[in-house]
Amino acid sequence: MKVLILYFSATGNTRKIAKVIGDTFTQMGCEVAMSDITANADRQKKIDLKPYHAVVFGAPIHSWRAPRVVREWMRTLDGQGKKCSMFFTYGGFGVHPTHYSTRLLLENQNFIVVSSADFLGCHTFNLGGWKAMEGRPDKSDFNVAKKYAKTTYKRFTGEDNGILGALEKTNHTEEQLDSIESFRFNVLTQLPTRGENECSMCLVCEELCPTGAMDAESGKADKGKCIACLACVANCPENVLKINDMSKSWSFKVEMEKTTEASMRGQKSRIYL
Ligand SMILES: Cc1cc2nc3c(=O)[nH]c(=O)nc-3n(C[C@H](O)[C@H](O)[C@H](O)COP(=O)(O)O)c2cc1C
Ligand code: SF4
Ligand code: SF4
Repeated sequence: MKVLILYFSATGNTRKIAKVIGDTFTQMGCEVAMSDITANADRQKKIDLKPYHAVVFGAPIHSWRAPRVVREWMRTLDGQGKKCSMFFTYGGFGVHPTHYSTRLLLENQNFIVVSSADFLGCHTFNLGGWKAMEGRPDKSDFNVAKKYAKTTYKRFTGEDNGILGALEKTNHTEEQLDSIESFRFNVLTQLPTRGENECSMCLVCEELCPTGAMDAESGKADKGKCIACLACVANCPENVLKINDMSKSWSFKVEMEKTTEASMRGQKSRIYL
């Protein structure tokens, strides 16, 4: 069985889980192709799904949904009635309604969604001083990923004929969810910038940017295009791209969510069947 794993990963969490899922499928005798769709250029390539029996989609959760660019890209796909599975990584806060809305989107594109899962991952804003889910994904999350791949394999082969069960609906409209997206810029008040720092002009930041917002020459991100994913900051080999200190907003976030770092650490990755 040939399986295609398509994943978006700005700072590496989703990539780590995708790898565990891919390795598990391979151990089960599948031929696995992995495709990273994070960079803008990667999402422009036409994907031919014909050779594949089934597809796995992986993405981080950005403000309760798959990132905007991932949703836009999914709307260009033709599922050809193939089975697919989804998974998400998130920083320990809101998940809902990501599974529900992404499933609807994929079904509209003629995919049959057979399973889903969410995995804990260190929050992107830890790069600015947050402390959410440090060290995740870890062994416990990778074990759930292995189990998820094994269960999904049975659904792909037909040994288990089930599909993904009913998911909790959302009362939020797309417009309300769109407006929630803008909160990220109350936290990320200084977009990635090189400032006065010198660098080797390797262009990694510009090439990896999912939206074309980063200009390596000026070392600045375009506010109109930036989605605050921090791929540029996390992957700059010289660590010269800077953002604001977010530690104050971390205390505020923990208070607002009525949680603590300790209780957050107790959360577990989950499989949805
Ligand atoms: C703009 C933005 C919005 C985010 N929104 C959420 C969220 O709604 N809930 C949550 O728990 N984590 C949220 N996160 C954290 C990411 O989902 C998490 O760190 C994820 O594992 C990053 O995956 P990656 O390393 O593959 O990019 C957000 C991160 C960013 C950058
Ligand atoms: S990734 Fe870093 S080193 Fe490379 S061009 Fe961008 S700022 Fe310069
Ligand atoms: S410029 Fe913005 S969108 Fe581009 S990689 Fe950096 S944080 Fe992400």
